Amino acid sequence: MGRIVAVTNLKGGIGKTTTVVNVGAGLALKGARVLLVDVDAQGNLALALGVKPRRTLYEALIDGARAADCVMSARPNLDLLAADESLLSAQPTLSRRPDWSRVLDQALQPLKRHYDFIFVDCGGSMTVLNVNALMAATDVLVPTTVEHLSIKGIEKLFKQVVSLKSGATSIRVIVPTMFDPRLKQSTALLEQLQATYGALIAPPIRVNVRLSESSAAGQTIYEYDRRSRGALDYAQLVERLSALWSFRQPVPTVPDSAVNAPSAINGVAGGVPTATQSAPAVVVPTSPSAIRAVVAPAVPIEHTDLHTEHPVVMGAGHMLQLDCPHCGHPLQRATIAGYRVVYCSHCKYKQQELATGIRR
Ligand SMILES: Nc1ncnc2c1ncn2[C@@H]1O[C@H](COP(=O)(O)OP(=O)(O)O)[C@@H](O)[C@H]1O
Ligand SMILES: [Mg+2]
Repeated sequence: MGRIVAVTNLKGGIGKTTTVVNVGAGLALKGARVLLVDVDAQGNLALALGVKPRRTLYEALIDGARAADCVMSARPNLDLLAADESLLSAQPTLSRRPDWSRVLDQALQPLKRHYDFIFVDCGGSMTVLNVNALMAATDVLVPTTVEHLSIKGIEKLFKQVVSLKSGATSIRVIVPTMFDPRLKQSTALLEQLQATYGALIAPPIRVNVRLSESSAAGQTIYEYDRRSRGALDYAQLVERLSALWSFRQPVPTVPDSAVNAPSAINGVAGGVPTATQSAPAVVVPTSPSAIRAVVAPAVPIEHTDLHTEHPVVMGAGHMLQLDCPHCGHPLQRATIAGYRVVYCSHCKYKQQELATGIRR
C-alpha cells in the first residue's frame, strides 16, 4: 500500500512543486511507482512536467468520475492527477459537504494499491483542498526556504497539522530549499533549523537556476541537466527518503525495453515489479551514525547481484568503504539518473561520478 505524502507549506514560491516533481521523478527512476496529485488550482505540476492533461482532479472530486480515469502517464513509473483553474470553483462545493475534509482521501483510496508513493502538491495556504491533502496524508513533507519568516511559518504549520491530525504529527521531513551556502545568514539559519528539528531536516537543496529553467522547459532536473547542483541535491534527497521510507530498488525481471512500459493505472502489466515496501513505524534517525545506519548502501545497479541483493565486486574498487577526506566519517553512496554520488552525511563533502569523469 502506498504512502500518501502531502508536500505543503503555508507559503507559495518556496519550492513545493519543484520538490514534488524532482523527488517523484527520482523515486520513479529508482523503480518506484509514483503518482503526483496537484491540489493547487495553478496547475503547475502539469506545466513543470510538460504534459497536457485531458482530465483533472476536479472531475474526480466534484463530477463523480473515478480518480483512476483522470490519471495520466507523465513518464515511465510516474503518473499525474493534474489540476487546473477549475479547481478554484471546487472549493465552495466541497466545503458544503458534511465529509468535506475527507473527499480527496476517499478519491485516492482505490489508487493506493497501485503506487508506492502518492505525492500531493499543495497550494500556499490552508485551503479546503490543502486540509483534504493533510487529512489524506500518511506523511507530510515540508519544503522551506532558509529565511527567518519561513522558519517561523514552520512552527505554525506544525501546530495546524497537530490540530488536524488530533495531536499526532505526521511531519516526517523538512527540506530546506533555495539554500545559498555563500550567505552567512543562510548557513546560520540552517544550523538553527537543524538544532530545532534535528533529524527531520533533510540535506538542503541549494539555489540553482537550472531548477527554474527545467520547470520552465517542462522537464525534470534529471532530464534537463543531470550534472547540475539541483540534480545532485535532489538525488541525495531521494536517497534519504528511500531510506527513511524503506523503499528498496525493485529487482528487474524483464528486459530494459519493458522497463519503460506505462505505469500502474494506465495499463501496466509488469514493466517494473512491485517494490518491496514495508510500511511499519517510521524511525527518524537522530544522529549522523543513526542516519548512516538507515541509509541503505546504494550500490550501482550494474554491480549488484540482482537476485540475492548482495553486492558483487566488479573491480575498480567500487565496493570499497571509503572515508570522508575531510572528517573521516564513512562516506555514503547514492545512485540515480545515471550517475553516482558519494557524499558525507556528517560534513558537506560530496563527489559526483559521471560516465565521462568526476566533477565536484
Ligand atoms: N533550489 C532552487 N533554486 C532556484 N530556483 C528554484 C529552486 N527551487 C524552486 N525554484 C524556482 O522557484 C520558483 C517557485 O518554485 P515552486 O516549486 O513553483 O514553488 P511553490 O510550489 O512552493 O510555489 C519556480 O520558478 C522554481 O523553478
Ligand atoms: Mg506550487
